[in-house]
Amino acid sequence: GRHGGGHGGGLDFEPVAPNDLDALVVPKGYEQDVVIRWGDPVLPGAPRFDFANQTAAAQARQFGYNNDFCGLVPLGRDRYLMVSNHEYTTESAMFFGYDPANPTREQVEIAWAAHGLSVVVVEENRRGGLEVKLDRHYNRRVTMTTPFAVRGPAAGSKYLRTSADPTGRRVLGTQNNCAGGVTPWGTILSGEENFNQYFANADAVTDPVAKARNSRYGLSGGASQRKWERFDKRFDLAREPNEANRFGWVVEIDPLDPHSAPVKHTALGRFKHEGANVIVARNGHVVAYMGDDERFDYMYKFVTDGRYKPGNSRYAREHNKKLLDSGTLYVAKFTGDSPAAEIDGSGTVPADGEFDGSGEWIPLAHNDRSFVPGFTAEEVYVFTRLAADVVGPTKMDRPEDVEPSLRNGRIYAALTNNTDRGKAGREGPTEPNPRVANKHGHVLELAERGGDHTGTRFSWKVLLLCGDPNSPDTYFAGYDKTQVSPISCPDNVAFDSKGNLWISTDGNALSHNDGLFAVPVEGRERGHVKQFLTVPDGAETCGPVVTDDFVLVSVQHPGELDGASADNPLSHWPDGGDSQPRPSVVAVWKKRR
Ligand code: FEO
Ligand code: CA
Ligand code: CA
Ligand code: CA
Repeated sequence: GRHGGGHGGGLDFEPVAPNDLDALVVPKGYEQDVVIRWGDPVLPGAPRFDFANQTAAAQARQFGYNNDFCGLVPLGRDRYLMVSNHEYTTESAMFFGYDPANPTREQVEIAWAAHGLSVVVVEENRRGGLEVKLDRHYNRRVTMTTPFAVRGPAAGSKYLRTSADPTGRRVLGTQNNCAGGVTPWGTILSGEENFNQYFANADAVTDPVAKARNSRYGLSGGASQRKWERFDKRFDLAREPNEANRFGWVVEIDPLDPHSAPVKHTALGRFKHEGANVIVARNGHVVAYMGDDERFDYMYKFVTDGRYKPGNSRYAREHNKKLLDSGTLYVAKFTGDSPAAEIDGSGTVPADGEFDGSGEWIPLAHNDRSFVPGFTAEEVYVFTRLAADVVGPTKMDRPEDVEPSLRNGRIYAALTNNTDRGKAGREGPTEPNPRVANKHGHVLELAERGGDHTGTRFSWKVLLLCGDPNSPDTYFAGYDKTQVSPISCPDNVAFDSKGNLWISTDGNALSHNDGLFAVPVEGRERGHVKQFLTVPDGAETCGPVVTDDFVLVSVQHPGELDGASADNPLSHWPDGGDSQPRPSVVAVWKKRR
């Protein structure tokens, strides 16, 4: 690999220093280019982006807003399908003179079209970057109005039926698609995360059981922030109380079959899904690892009943695309091995030298069978958080991306932060979440017992306690802290072909720009965190893809800073001058000699 290579998985670039620039900064000897930005054409014939004169019809053919996860599916030599999640819209930055109390129908419909996913063909160019092809066959937009098929054990559930869909099997759109993963059969999994923000009038729901369920998912209050309920009653819980149950799922899209309906997978449970990443276990079953991104929420895994069929034949793909329909859903319980008195919340490593211990995957449901007292199987799937609460899993510090390494089989989890840990009335430090007021987050490494991803026992250790390496409350797997880059708020993880872990950050609490970091997890370099790039001020780094030829990052919400708006943009990235900031995918590659 061009950025990896060397011995022991060492990484050969010069780390980028922390900064606050309105620029994307890469190491010496590397080049960068925007691959696609908000408003760029996705479908052939899409109009040119015109910030002052946007329309919903144009947006539905253009790249959506705030791209998060980015995944590549190979399509041939130096040619890929690139799939991007469009997590959310920021109307005040999208429209001049936006009035949050009175959005117009056109603005709302633009926002619906700016959500969802984009699929584009990309090709490596001569310089080493990637360029978008306006491919008539493959390029695709999925928006808030695209039909999805609901599959798995809760498809058709009474909790999923609405007046527009009495079958409970067909949902329009996807919301807040955050992280995701690429499956070995060439589809994309994407997590519906903070769906609660789109639904109004939870206060009007008076049934105590329904109210408790809504509350556990953060569905509360009256009008929604974006006021979509004024333009489609399905966003009004007083009128369509089940519509919110149709979001919060892992969705699967097959970019190689542009006419296929994307799927909502009920077997993987409903929560604020950050994403899902799968590995094929030695016995052929497929295992998906998942985080529920909320303070004090849980980590999950799903083990399929069926086994993966290798190869790209139509027969194998159709088989594999059904694997996530049936299996067992588990939630994680972590147990530390050091005395509780040594876990004092300061981040001081306990006497045995590690924050580490054992763990158990607690089964919640298998198809139509519930393992949770008081819950039917369909209730486990639709109200997964409440079912998990019953079985005593470990409350984590906001589990974001959870991804198995295909090199060493271990699983890496980004716990982005939890400033509430140890606050009055909240849970205090535990060995897997060892810091109070954890503002910089940490990274856990899990190893399934005997390397069996389908098993129910694992061991774990803290790989990184993030923050300023000069601070005593940080830990870099025992590596010399004078040699590492500061890192804060790990969010997405990825791996290069050598097995090095790459980490992107969101919300750098060290008061500098977010970025992308790489760290070996084996040998003498284990824990040697180096910053590969920084993104513009106000932006979050996401969707990293690391190949031997290039690195892709999503630059989400550039210039999202206090006081920023379309009328007062505080970033002009990536187009410069007095332009509006535009969320983008950027390719970075080593300069060719
Ligand atoms: Fe959308 Fe948990 O980040
Ligand atoms: Ca320990
Ligand atoms: Ca995220
Ligand atoms: Ca990832």
